[in-house]
Amino acid sequence: MAEILITRSVFQDAVDILNKKGHTIDINDSDEILPRRELVKRAHGKAGIVCLLNDKIDSALMDELPSLKVISNIAVGYDNIDITAATQRGIMVTNTPGVLTETTADLAFALLLCAARKIVEADEYTRAGKFKNWQLMQPHMGVDVYEKTLGIVGMGAIGQAMAKRAKKGFDMRVIYYGSSRKETAEKEYGAQFVEFDELLAISDFISIHVPLTEKTRYMFSTEAFKKMKNSAILINTARGPVVDEAALVEAVKDGQIRGAALDVFEEEPSVHPELIKIKENVVLAPHIGSASIETRLRMAKMAARNMAEGLKGNRPPNLVNEKVTSRKETDI
Ligand code: GLV
Repeated sequence: MAEILITRSVFQDAVDILNKKGHTIDINDSDEILPRRELVKRAHGKAGIVCLLNDKIDSALMDELPSLKVISNIAVGYDNIDITAATQRGIMVTNTPGVLTETTADLAFALLLCAARKIVEADEYTRAGKFKNWQLMQPHMGVDVYEKTLGIVGMGAIGQAMAKRAKKGFDMRVIYYGSSRKETAEKEYGAQFVEFDELLAISDFISIHVPLTEKTRYMFSTEAFKKMKNSAILINTARGPVVDEAALVEAVKDGQIRGAALDVFEEEPSVHPELIKIKENVVLAPHIGSASIETRLRMAKMAARNMAEGLKGNRPPNLVNEKVTSRKETDI
């Protein structure tokens, strides 16, 4: 039996999975991120940490936690964890893929629709009592979505779920750019692989679905925005730093692109102050891609199961660092 730290409040069902295995659990029941010192103090002597995507687990932290065997991230992305450092120290790292795919694609598509059809602006207008009569020249005329071209950057599971919605629901032309060709998406959704610059040049909407890596950081910068259509809308539900937020502000202000719908930000939870000021054609959400009750519950339970398996010394179902040689029981 082992000691585990859960860094933030989670569903009781997930805690129960670990309790039933006889583990001792320390939960930070608040919604605040544990400050570094506090995190070290509470994780010290523990074999497992169940954490969220905004808990930074780097090599220096791992060095202070010699008992640590398993880090279970309740997220599909794991750029908050230094994977190389964990592997070198024999610490298993797990994530929660699959269970949030459809939910995140739903949100990405919802954001696309919101920005294209000015739904948030229209909502504000209606609540403010400004809806006096129906007008042909409506102040909230947006742009069409059906039959337009959607460029998907990163055709992983979520990218493909986005392609499905675009093709099957809105008869869109789907083009994509990524690290490899995806035959299923090409066959089922008619997705066409193109180079990045071509995608930028011909897409009406661009939806980002790449993980954050050194290669993808600032993939969308001034240079990229210059290559996009002036009518294009950028949707980001992946990771904030894939987009240079300051450059995006300039691109929207200058009319280089039409707008953006963002669920993630460069320095979460901060949002570029200029971005907040631009209400026209810009939609912002507080990183809620996977935030449906069903999905968040599935994620938390999956993370608990990953932790339980790892602590048993088994290979957890969603091990990220395949090459890890786990710390022996006696290391705890
Ligand atoms: C959410 O952003 C996740 O990585 O699960």
